[in-house]
Amino acid sequence: MTRIRAAITGIQGWVPPYILTNKELESMVDTSDEWIMSRTGIKERHILKGEGLGTSDMGAEAVKALCEKTGTRPEEIGLLICATVTPDMVFPATANIICDKAGIKNAFSYDLNAACSGLIYALVTASKFIETGSIKKAIVVGADKMSSIVDYTNRETCVLFGDGAGAILLEPTEDEVGIMDSIMQSDGSGRVHLHMKAGGSLKPSSYETIDAGEHFVYQEGQPVFKFAVTKMADAAAEIMARNNLKSEDVAYLVPHQANLRIIDATARRMGVGTDRVMINIERYGNTTGGTIPLCLWEWENKLKKGDNVILAAFGGGFTWGSVWVKWAY
Ligand code: UT7
Repeated sequence: MTRIRAAITGIQGWVPPYILTNKELESMVDTSDEWIMSRTGIKERHILKGEGLGTSDMGAEAVKALCEKTGTRPEEIGLLICATVTPDMVFPATANIICDKAGIKNAFSYDLNAACSGLIYALVTASKFIETGSIKKAIVVGADKMSSIVDYTNRETCVLFGDGAGAILLEPTEDEVGIMDSIMQSDGSGRVHLHMKAGGSLKPSSYETIDAGEHFVYQEGQPVFKFAVTKMADAAAEIMARNNLKSEDVAYLVPHQANLRIIDATARRMGVGTDRVMINIERYGNTTGGTIPLCLWEWENKLKKGDNVILAAFGGGFTWGSVWVKWAY
């Protein structure tokens, strides 16, 4: 029996027009372009401005453009998963709202929270519905309005994040392309280093939590950095080893964009030169769920059918993982 795989058949990104530069950040907190560039590789990031706009608005823009460019009618979509840590609301799921805004009427949809590894988790989850034949067309969205949970008086975090969204179309194929293998892991003990203190069931929102600034990203940079460097590189190296992929077999590494130094370390471990690493952190910063699809979108024209692409991510949870994709078009 022929094996059905889930092929990526379209990709689309969307970022809001407003650009927050390092220069503007210099006027907001005690930082410098030199510090931000040398420690993170980030020059600017896009920010969603305007009342009444949330993560779903960015996700819906990406989904609408994806459907248009791939000639997909919204009613053909059977599943939409949105990877996000900044949902429009606690409930309903942002995925439900994206479907409504994008005219998707026949899908079941839900959010998936694996922080910066969310896109990878969602991609693999959606691929299983395609592989079993229960869904013919699925969309995976990675979208975050990080500016809604960033404290712009805290220089340790406010320079890192940006807003953006990407959407990936998955369809079944009998060819030797698509999602070939994946590794996904998590370790909840890492939550002490990266989390949001209040607003969940453990510590509901109150005047006190707002006064204490507990509705923002809390990150201890150094321990997160150490884990990220090790785990992201481990996962990428392991997926290559167990599939007998040599560094010369890899067309592109697509790493989560949290810090240029973490990206470089992962590429070195895989033996992949920087010309084969998708890097756009300089212009977008860390958009959490958005980083990997924004890279694929920008490199789409360079990708060829059969290219081996390795996705790798690390994020809050901790969560991490890697996916081997054979490009399908
Ligand atoms: O995507 C989710 C996963 N997250 C990550 O992967 C992030 C991992 N962590 C990192 O990328 C890095 O740890 C950071 C970029 C967050 C920080 O870089 P670092 O090299 O680890 O710096 P540090 O936290 O050790 O801080 C070094 C110094 C400190 O000053 P002192 O104590 O040495 O005087 C900080 O206060 O840099 C200071 N600092 C800044 N200075 C200027 C911290 N942030 C800034 C800033 N501008 N924005």
